[in-house]
Amino acid sequence: MDQRVRWASILRGEVIPPGDKSISHRALILNSVAGGKARVDNFSPGADCLATVACLRQLGVEIVEESPGSLTVSGVGKEGLKEPKDVLNAGNSATTIRLLAGLLAAQPFLSIITGDESLRSRPMARLIHPLRLMGAEVWGRGGDSLAPLAIKGNQLRGIKYQLPVASAQLKSAVLIAALFAQGNTTVEEPAPSRDHTERMLRAMGAKLKSDGLRITLTPDPVPLVPLDLLIPGDISSAAFWLVAGAIHPNARIEVRNTGINPTRMGIIEVLLDMGAKLRIENERIEAGEPVADLIVESSDLVGRQIGGSLIPRLIDEIPLIAIAGCVARGTTVIRDAAELRVKETDRIRATMKELSRLGADIGELPDGLIIRGGKTLKGGECHSYHDHRLAMAWGIAGLVAQGETIIHDAEAVAFSYPGFWSDLERLSARTV
Ligand code: S3P
Repeated sequence: MDQRVRWASILRGEVIPPGDKSISHRALILNSVAGGKARVDNFSPGADCLATVACLRQLGVEIVEESPGSLTVSGVGKEGLKEPKDVLNAGNSATTIRLLAGLLAAQPFLSIITGDESLRSRPMARLIHPLRLMGAEVWGRGGDSLAPLAIKGNQLRGIKYQLPVASAQLKSAVLIAALFAQGNTTVEEPAPSRDHTERMLRAMGAKLKSDGLRITLTPDPVPLVPLDLLIPGDISSAAFWLVAGAIHPNARIEVRNTGINPTRMGIIEVLLDMGAKLRIENERIEAGEPVADLIVESSDLVGRQIGGSLIPRLIDEIPLIAIAGCVARGTTVIRDAAELRVKETDRIRATMKELSRLGADIGELPDGLIIRGGKTLKGGECHSYHDHRLAMAWGIAGLVAQGETIIHDAEAVAFSYPGFWSDLERLSARTV
């Protein structure tokens, strides 16, 4: 599907971003092996999280949709999962395949899990390695580096493991496997990545200790305590409106009910540092996660240099930061972000190519991007590469680009934010 976005004379209104995708996956996976029933509200409507629902159902977990966004999960305890009768399909979702691989590595049966073309090209050796050290039998295509994965579960043993990259998916896979292992497991990250798994595990009674970048889990014969959750809005979805509001010359957008977990706050910190008029209001805690309303207005942005340990805290928002950089005064440099090359697509290459089509002065670095700002973008044709975050990012660029922007394969937004195009149309509806 092609989506046309026209320059908007004004951006006004309120948005409620969909439930957080990362928290939604974890809420289902962890409650599936808890010792009873839990209710999950504001569950992400994206196709990624629906893939997790489908896989868990194939593993014998009863998940009932009580109403849109409200699910009940009947946890089967530590030994209740069943061998799937068919291949599990994680679709486009790396969180699904990686977190479930951690779970499946500890089950006494065989599972095969695959995904779509994009997911089947993403690195899995980094996942297979620690699971094998724990005693799991895991194989993959391409010399054990790519999905589909075949996983023959075993009684696992605890390990001490230094993660080669700051990846919440890897950390979570190892911690989930560790719930079923004999002996403690310690994982150490090179930099902090999102900590939703750790927060949820603690809230469900798991024995978890953190010491700087090191996390130790002591397994318990008792299953996790079921956890009812109201999932906060996804800051990675909210981020589109934060950037839209900041770069547009006549904007005021209120983004309600957004998770502001410090391990996800990088985008807010960078926008503030670039000079964004962005306020955080009504801070509260929901389901063990900090939540707030965010108000953004037209701003005069200046370019910044970003890198180091900030990167994992805004990893999914980098294409948007590049768009902010195009409009900002001065130069924006993004480094230490080589992980972007192994996301749904190579987001460094794609951001450079597609924003160049819109008139950006942008160059590619091995691990990032360099953007010379102060440009007025002009409408053009952009490709999403079937990557949800890129489709949405080009939509935001289209709101400030002169004329019309056509985004090809725009339906990709449905992986995380099915209502994105209608929110965009509503906020820009006063275009004259
Ligand atoms: C996610 C972690 C991040 C992020 C992805 C969701 C998660 O990936 O890019 O969209 O839910 O754990 P990595 O942990 O591989 O960096």
